[in-house]
Amino acid sequence: FKILILNGPNLNLLGTREKKIYGTKSLNTLINELYTKFNQSNVKITHLQSNAEHILIEKIQKSNKNIDYIIINPAAFAHTSIALRDALLSINVPFIEVHISNIYSREKFRSHSWLSDIAQGIICGFGTDGYYWAIKTALKRLKKKHN
Ligand code: DQA
Repeated sequence: FKILILNGPNLNLLGTREKKIYGTKSLNTLINELYTKFNQSNVKITHLQSNAEHILIEKIQKSNKNIDYIIINPAAFAHTSIALRDALLSINVPFIEVHISNIYSREKFRSHSWLSDIAQGIICGFGTDGYYWAIKTALKRLKKKHN
């Protein structure tokens, strides 16, 4: 199974950015931990972080061919990007939306996401553990589907 993790703008600053909200773990450490945990002969996790909307959109468009599941933290694009929504609607790849913080306990503008109603599920407020649980669920569902 091929799972793509996508991280949106400013998540390259994990570990130094607003530590009280996003924690102290760097993006590199987090992604390496997930690779170590999940990558096996039949599971291949790949990752892309970008601050640019069009880079994320191009990756989503291309993933239709070779990706089984997407785990996406759209970061602030969750609240602004209909283009990201349209990209995810244009492919046949299920996705889970992850937010590190609880977007419902913060500023009002964070409580709406353009992706949530078309996601298979949403995880928020679990810190960076949210990625772990999202991958767990993605694998469980992929195994069930291919049984
Ligand atoms: C975030 C929440 C967003 O509101 C914010 O813009 C981010 C990170 C999170 O992971 O909690 O950049 O997606």
